[in-house]
Amino acid sequence: MKTLKTQVAIIGAGPSGLLLGQLLHNAGIQTLVLERQSAEYVQGRIRAGVLEQGMVDLLREAGVSQRMDAEGLVHDGFDIALNGQLTSIDLKALTGGQSVMIYGQTEVTRDLMAARAAAGAITLYEASNVQPHDLKSEQPWLTFEHEGQAYRLECDYIAGCDGFHGVARQSIPAQALKVFERVYPFGWLGVLADTPPVHAELVYAKHTRGFALCSMRSPTRSRYYLQVPVEEKLEDWADERFWDELKSRLPNSLAEQLVTGPSIEKSIAPLRSFVVEPMQYGRLFLLGDAAHIVPPTGAKGLNLAASDVSTLFRILLKVYREGRLDLLQKYSAICLRRVWKAERFSWWMTSMLHQFPQADAFSQRIAESELDYFVHSEAGRKTIAENYVGLPYEPIE
Ligand code: APR
Ligand code: PHB
Repeated sequence: MKTLKTQVAIIGAGPSGLLLGQLLHNAGIQTLVLERQSAEYVQGRIRAGVLEQGMVDLLREAGVSQRMDAEGLVHDGFDIALNGQLTSIDLKALTGGQSVMIYGQTEVTRDLMAARAAAGAITLYEASNVQPHDLKSEQPWLTFEHEGQAYRLECDYIAGCDGFHGVARQSIPAQALKVFERVYPFGWLGVLADTPPVHAELVYAKHTRGFALCSMRSPTRSRYYLQVPVEEKLEDWADERFWDELKSRLPNSLAEQLVTGPSIEKSIAPLRSFVVEPMQYGRLFLLGDAAHIVPPTGAKGLNLAASDVSTLFRILLKVYREGRLDLLQKYSAICLRRVWKAERFSWWMTSMLHQFPQADAFSQRIAESELDYFVHSEAGRKTIAENYVGLPYEPIE
């Protein structure tokens, strides 16, 4: 077995792992990233694409914002469609000047991979059997295999950035964790197409046939989603059926303008709310999807990963530079305060906008009335806007 050493071992090369790695590397703190999949596989995943100002700022701070600043689309608002009518949520006016950036997670990942390679920092792709050890000691270590060689990696801290199905959370004794979970009885069928977006802004549409979302990646690339039952099969959704169903759920004015075309990606994702507490165990810290999942309705998944990264980065900076070991034990509580607010917002938007198959007639009217109230009251729109652009990051002091 070969022995390697680093300061912060990072499990997972998704946005959490790569962004943390870049910030630490720039600050002169050594990292090694271990990723189970190949670089091509990581690069090929299509995910969400709405970045809060806090994440945009963090990418700039990490020095990986050049392409995002050139190609990302700044959006000052989005629309909600209810009963065939569009209402604008004017983010900028309602929040005193804030907006969001449309830039795909796929692109964020590509930029971070390129920056890490250019900086000469190491990512070991296709690393198998990653296993953390001695988490409660001052010298935690990991074992893994890479290209047929077994390794022992010694480090100061381990960042578990390995997503919902990763090994980091699973290596914490079950009795040390409390799990909070809600599984929704539907999923999102997503289609990516090289067609111009149907509307200048994102459209979140509530309809009796189910929820629909019109999003985009660029002026020539659209991303659309439909609420479907969880057990739905992808092969039952030929492009034509998808476009017809999307049109039926949009206000007429939009449906008439929808440009259809062949899908370049199509997938079904289940919807889930999930939080594990605490987000740390000894010298192992959980970040992003390893610690929490939100349904995509509020566009919060990637943004929560970024706020966890910001928190751990600023804590580790003070630990290495000022010896502030006391901050380490605060990581989970700081993250969870923001995580739960985003969990609440994502759950709430999901509840208002979707059709729940088991809901009785009364519950359906309440959900309709709730959305109607929030969308048509300035106070209501303010609440939606404040959460959508992202709640502030807590300072690390
Ligand atoms: N060993 C090494 N790597 C692993 C392991 C393991 N045992 N298990 C998983 N991984 C890798 C995955 O292959 C993946 O590349 O960890 C990475 C985790 O990346 P993501 O799932 O993208 O999670 P995260 O970086 O936290 O990003 C959160 O992704 O799912 C979206 O909505 C979510 O947008 C948010 C973002
Ligand atoms: C997306 O563009 O993929 C997207 C946008 C907004 C959401 C979810 C997904 O709420």
